[in-house]
Amino acid sequence: MEINTETKKYGLIGNPLSKSLSPFLHNQFYKMNDLNNIYQTFEIDLDKLNDAVESLKILGIKGFNITIPFKEKIIEYLDEIDPLAERINAINTVKIENGKVIGYNTDGIGFIKSLEANNIDIENKNILVLGAGGGSRAISYSLLEKNIEKLYITNRTSNRGIKLANELKRYYKDKDISFTGFNLSELNKLEIDIVVNTTSVGMYPDIENSPIVLNGFSDDIILYDLIYKPLETKFLKEGKELGYKTINGIGMLYYQAIESQKIWLDKEDFLGLEELLSELNKKIGEEYE
Ligand code: ATR
Repeated sequence: MEINTETKKYGLIGNPLSKSLSPFLHNQFYKMNDLNNIYQTFEIDLDKLNDAVESLKILGIKGFNITIPFKEKIIEYLDEIDPLAERINAINTVKIENGKVIGYNTDGIGFIKSLEANNIDIENKNILVLGAGGGSRAISYSLLEKNIEKLYITNRTSNRGIKLANELKRYYKDKDISFTGFNLSELNKLEIDIVVNTTSVGMYPDIENSPIVLNGFSDDIILYDLIYKPLETKFLKEGKELGYKTINGIGMLYYQAIESQKIWLDKEDFLGLEELLSELNKKIGEEYE
């Protein structure tokens, strides 16, 4: 694709960005869909977010993703915020439209889409979410938008987990939501259908660790790890050895990007998505294995 005066510009704000796969993913997406668009990175200083947003507006950038450490801080510079993103209290996608800066969060919906892509039905399921940070917030809120049976939150630091569980209960009064201690001793593990790891335990370089001990779960449990570096964490490897179904974080990485594109392009159907997912798998395999 030739870059010319018509090229529409998108990008990513964060720091550091050197390891980000987003430029690869989004630019391949533009290529496959024959779009005259480009996706660039903007690694900015921590105190320059306001200036950066103003600059992107002036320069006619149509939209950008936002990542660590700006996902919460960006909120004060938005003109509008999507209601679910407001609950999650983190933004990963910004659209600039008619001079207005609008914030969204596609991490949670990306997670849900990746479950659908794996043919996993979450209706009436009991789900245990490990962790209470940003990833957990996006996933927990998005799960509660669906018809799940019960959500358990656990976290190493109990107070943070209890706080999140209470916050979720305030928004979703009719839903069954509980905090359970991190050693899972109070939990009836046999009733859990899916465990989602949102903690950083097992992420490169901490690859020798797993967030929980996998005993006492039912044989048809599904383990989902948001981590994709490495592709198979210790948590998933141990699960696989026990015969459990396992899912790594690539699907979520991929679908949150596609969901960002849907917002920016105001379109639902795209070309070459399967090929793009397999290219992403290959790229991650090459870089991190
Ligand atoms: P993110 O936005 O990626 O979710 P975060 O907000 O820093 O990142 O949250 C990281 C999560 O990983 C938290 O749930 C954290 O637990 P604490 O709240 O107790 O810090 C969890 N975590 C990180 N290191 C951990 C470890 N060694 N053992 C257990 N949990 C850990």
